[in-house]
Amino acid sequence: MSTPHPTSHTPRPTPSPDLEEIEIQLLLEGVYRLYGFDFRNYAPSSLKRRVRNLMEAEALSSISALQDRVLHDTSCMERFLLGVTVHVTAMFRDPGFFVRFRNQVVPLLSTYPFIRIWHAGCSTGQEVYSLAILLLEEGLYHRCRIYATDMNERVLQKAKSGIYPLELMQEYTQLYLKAGGKRSFSEYYTAAYDNAAFRASLRENIIFSQHNLATDHSFNEFHVILCRNVLIYFDPVLQKRVHQLFYDSLCPLGILGLGRQETLRLTPYEPHYEELGDRIYRRLH
Ligand SMILES: C[S@@+](CC[C@H](N)C(=O)[O-])C[C@H]1O[C@@H](n2cnc3c(N)ncnc32)[C@H](O)[C@@H]1O
Repeated sequence: MSTPHPTSHTPRPTPSPDLEEIEIQLLLEGVYRLYGFDFRNYAPSSLKRRVRNLMEAEALSSISALQDRVLHDTSCMERFLLGVTVHVTAMFRDPGFFVRFRNQVVPLLSTYPFIRIWHAGCSTGQEVYSLAILLLEEGLYHRCRIYATDMNERVLQKAKSGIYPLELMQEYTQLYLKAGGKRSFSEYYTAAYDNAAFRASLRENIIFSQHNLATDHSFNEFHVILCRNVLIYFDPVLQKRVHQLFYDSLCPLGILGLGRQETLRLTPYEPHYEELGDRIYRRLH
């Protein structure tokens, strides 16, 4: 009788940081060359953590093995796309931002006959619906066209549906009120079983579409660009690309809204904007 083969793998030595670095670079290069998604300039520490989590979730013992699976199995690539980026969002997230938008940006926008807004990295859409509600309450929504983009088609599908777990509505109601909401928040959705479906009329002037900030170009000129909690995941090279893209896509005196941990301070773009507060900037010329 022959000796049975061992069924479990011999434990691999923990890869040296250098080796892991090389494996991650090869994985990202492969993903870019095969699928066109460019993660090569994402902030390394958070990316590394998420790649490791994914490797464990796939029950693989090395990043090279993850590379093999991602490149040969498109369903694994979908999981990679969802796993490697953060999609956390909420309605009226950081209410102070929306209060400032209502008080300082709305009066500026009301001077325009037609308002083009780009909401980049919109994730599952909660922020886009928040903005639509705010603009509706301020009597501007009918004059707006909101382009809501994300690189991930899966989260965009959710955004388009406008359906979120009902259990979140209590928290969202609090945030809506803190953000200066003027009506009863429950007017904006219908509860069905465990879900809240937002009114279709809120979607009337929103166009959801795929756009990748790392590789795609400008597609219009905007009066407002909101991109919150996306740039924190990029390294300085990619942040610079995106700031250039936003600058080129904003009309003179246009508004740029960033996330709470994001700033133009000490970047080459600082002199081209005036800060209104709460991470809201106005392009100078
Ligand atoms: C943390 S969420 C932010 C959602 C929302 N803006 C907010 O602040 O609540 C980050 C989003 O950025 C998107 N994202 C990451 N890299 C991107 C890229 N290169 N181009 C476009 N979107 C990207 C992700 O898919 C994710 O939905």
